[in-house]
Amino acid sequence: MENNNKNLMEVNNIPVKELIKSAIEARKKAYAPYSNYLVGAAVLTNELRIYTGCNIENAAYTPSICAERTAVNKAVSEGCRKLKAIAIVGGPKDGLTDQYAFPCGVCRQVLREFADSNQFIVIVAKNENDYKLYRLNELLPESFGPENLNY
Ligand code: THU
Repeated sequence: MENNNKNLMEVNNIPVKELIKSAIEARKKAYAPYSNYLVGAAVLTNELRIYTGCNIENAAYTPSICAERTAVNKAVSEGCRKLKAIAIVGGPKDGLTDQYAFPCGVCRQVLREFADSNQFIVIVAKNENDYKLYRLNELLPESFGPENLNY
């Protein structure tokens, strides 16, 4: 399967580079003294607003939250429940990252709640010029979502 399909960008009219830039900026705010793994994320809403987030760890560990969910929670708490895309930039401390940071399973499920899985674009980026694009349904196939509870 061709995952690094930059044409998806044109199909969906997603401002890929702007989202990546926003995620890189958000990553600078990551609070990750325990893992030293810093993540930034930027979600694009249907209204074309961008909300950013970073991972925020906790000494008690379990209250820690991923960058993706910080960003989604910010969007939803501002009234934006329909999301189109997310850019994620993550890696160990010290400047630029040389890895693609994929969203964890919990974050994939949270994105699913506020996305059309067949359309939603996940961008994992090392920098503005080096990234991969996926549809959410590739990363979370055969998923469970709000429609299952419409009875
Ligand atoms: N992390 C994220 O922010 N997003 C992910 O999708 C994977 C993991 C964070 C959580 C924790 O603060 C650190 O990265 C190491 O797991």
